[in-house]
Amino acid sequence: MEAVRDKAVVVTGAGGGIGAALARRFAAEGARVVVNDLDEAKAERTADEIGALAVPGDASAVVPAARDALGGAIDVFCANAGVGTGGGPDAPEDDWALAWDVNVMAHVRATRDLVPEWLERGSGRFISTVSAAGLLTMVAAAPYSVTKHGAYAFAEWLSLTYRHRGIHVHAICPQGVRTDMLDATGTAGDLVLAPGAIEPAAVADALCAAIEEDRFLVLPHPEVAGYYTARAAEPDRWLGSMNRLQRKLEQAEGSAS
Ligand SMILES: NC(=O)c1ccc[n+]([C@@H]2O[C@H](COP(=O)([O-])OP(=O)(O)OC[C@H]3O[C@@H](n4cnc5c(N)ncnc54)[C@H](O)[C@@H]3O)[C@@H](O)[C@H]2O)c1
Repeated sequence: MEAVRDKAVVVTGAGGGIGAALARRFAAEGARVVVNDLDEAKAERTADEIGALAVPGDASAVVPAARDALGGAIDVFCANAGVGTGGGPDAPEDDWALAWDVNVMAHVRATRDLVPEWLERGSGRFISTVSAAGLLTMVAAAPYSVTKHGAYAFAEWLSLTYRHRGIHVHAICPQGVRTDMLDATGTAGDLVLAPGAIEPAAVADALCAAIEEDRFLVLPHPEVAGYYTARAAEPDRWLGSMNRLQRKLEQAEGSAS
């Protein structure tokens, strides 16, 4: 794939799951890849496995160290690290803050560093692993849903602002993907995400197709397009169907306790 061959690519949260699958695919396509993760051992394990460079640490601050590791400019940045914070308004203040920090502000901080360089060169690619929750919502997970809407809005803003100046943006919005995050999502994940869950490699496939077509929205579960349209066209009907899911979840949790 021309867009990534010999390019310098950074993938955050790539110690496992979707990030590792993206890093693996880019390495296989001939990119020079930096694997970032907060978990140093996981970052090193993925990097060793695919012949990439590990730059562990917080995704918010990875750009300077990744540039050093790559010996210069970054061509493609995958803002993939995320936290699946559940709960409602009652979730602790620190949980809400962490969700904003990792799911939104890490993207803002990375592009603060990258966009000036990309504008000067007239090229760059920003890939945001959002979620279908960023287009729709996720039951039992207000911090996750709200911050993923923020991540999607930020990716849209970047795309509309810089697309005529050589910056390509993609927003990946999957439903369930078989990763540690899905395993940790509990009854809501079992009910809503697990039945249609796909492998992380399928997310990489969907992204590559979108890069080839220069398409912003990446939907590894194509049916999400229909849900997104329904939400916009008939909000109350859509909320009613999501509320049925909420009640199903309450029933499942009730019978489990
Ligand atoms: N699994 C799903 O069903 C699903 C669906 C839609 C979207 N997503 C999104 O995909 C992305 C990847 O999640 P995953 O499912 O592969 O989960 P995962 O838990 O397997 O991977 C997430 C990785 O991010 C790392 N991480 C967390 N905070 C970090 C930080 N501040 N800096 C650097 N690394 C950090 C974790 O250590 C972990 O290795 C997330 O943004 C998630 O919201 C996942």
